[in-house]
Amino acid sequence: MPHPLLASNPDNPRPVWLVTEESWPGVAEGLPPQARAFARACGFKGGAGRHCLLPDPDGGILGVLFGLGGALDDPSAKRADPFLPGKLVTLLPEGDYRFATPAPDPSLATLAWLLGGYAFGRYRAKPEKRVRLVPPEGVDAAETARIAHAVAAGRDLVNTPTNDLGPDGIEAAARQLADRHGASFTSLVGDDLLAKNLPMIHAVGRASAIPPRLIDIVWGAADAPQVTIVGKGVAFDTGGLDIKPAASMLLMKKDMGGAAAALALADMIMGAGLPVRLRVLIPAVENAIAGNAFRPGDVLRSRKGISVEIGNTDAEGRLILADALALADEESPDLIVDFATLTGAARTALGPDLPPFYTEDDTLAADLARCGTAVNDPVWRLPLWAPYTAQLDSKVADLNNTGGPMAGSITAALFLRRFVSAAKAHVHFDIYAWNPATKPGRPEGGEVQGARLVYALLKERYGG
Ligand code: BES
Ligand code: MN
Ligand code: ZN
Repeated sequence: MPHPLLASNPDNPRPVWLVTEESWPGVAEGLPPQARAFARACGFKGGAGRHCLLPDPDGGILGVLFGLGGALDDPSAKRADPFLPGKLVTLLPEGDYRFATPAPDPSLATLAWLLGGYAFGRYRAKPEKRVRLVPPEGVDAAETARIAHAVAAGRDLVNTPTNDLGPDGIEAAARQLADRHGASFTSLVGDDLLAKNLPMIHAVGRASAIPPRLIDIVWGAADAPQVTIVGKGVAFDTGGLDIKPAASMLLMKKDMGGAAAALALADMIMGAGLPVRLRVLIPAVENAIAGNAFRPGDVLRSRKGISVEIGNTDAEGRLILADALALADEESPDLIVDFATLTGAARTALGPDLPPFYTEDDTLAADLARCGTAVNDPVWRLPLWAPYTAQLDSKVADLNNTGGPMAGSITAALFLRRFVSAAKAHVHFDIYAWNPATKPGRPEGGEVQGARLVYALLKERYGG
């Protein structure tokens, strides 16, 4: 699918000069004297994120200057955001543009342009601004467009409020994706979850007017390396009977951000035709409040046979993931990847932009961190610190679902770990799935975190 912000047959595209504070004098030298004088009059010096539209003698636009900031040997510039040129899509008037000087990372600059042009348009018309980029030399435009479409679809899911995207809506979106790629699709709904031994998904979701379900997508050759992706699909998290205060509940439509990341990643894998056997498992529920809600103190039996005492109904994500992970594990896949907006503690530790991840596989951890940096989808490894498992002890059951007041993201990861034993590797991402404020390529609102970096890793491992 072509992307509306990529110019495949450009109409005399305007040049964009990407300049650092060092390269600026040289670039200025090459400009027509009038334009150079204008840029100087505007005070343009190449500061990071600054831009200047240059006039031509007829009152048209000659081109655009865009600042990348200070010296390349200056540590602050070295750490500069590779998405920075994507800011242009929000700054420029309609038209076609090309980079007249190469971006530091042309692929990421192009992707940032497409991602930065995203707007959530479900409830009011999005301003249709056609600010199109000519794909720079060497950039795979089709691949970049596919990734941008997958991320946009994931953001739409996160941004859509629960009155229009309950567990049934998550199922519909997953079914559509499966159909588009010719994948097989099943969904176990309501009491069928009990019949098929997925009791914790049922317990968490049964108080909602829309029944809980487990979505199951399978795609690819049966003999290919098996990769199973699991995503937390809590359409809304009230906290359950341990109800959240208003300020904490306000954004909880995004508690299916793990499912959105899982579906976006699956879209990338299937769209590229990666030679893997893919399975996507999404437990989709609403953590609601009603007379039949699960309670603090209840003891649930899980699919794996481990009994779980409920210390807090707001620790619901790990319960539904535990049953989905146990099911995934039964096939002994080569890799299980799960994404979940699992804990507030993850955000407290690392902030909204840097999700922690957990795995016991050191090689996998190093590869993930490297891929995250390479594609600007950064993550940070935290430890599965075994001694903290004691925080999950229960006096009546095998496990408690709350881990105490400290190291909350780690104890949640340790909880999940108990439900995986046969898979050759498992990685868990505790994501935030939200941009609190707009940054280049990352508009405020729902975000897909982790999917692009796992896709990069799978391409590296299995891609031809
Ligand atoms: N969905 C929340 C975690 C969350 C909150 C993610 C805010 C991102 C932003 C999760 O279900 C939850 O409520 N976790 C509790 C666990 C606690 C009760 C052990 C938490 O983090 O406070
Ligand atoms: Mn919760
Ligand atoms: Zn939750």
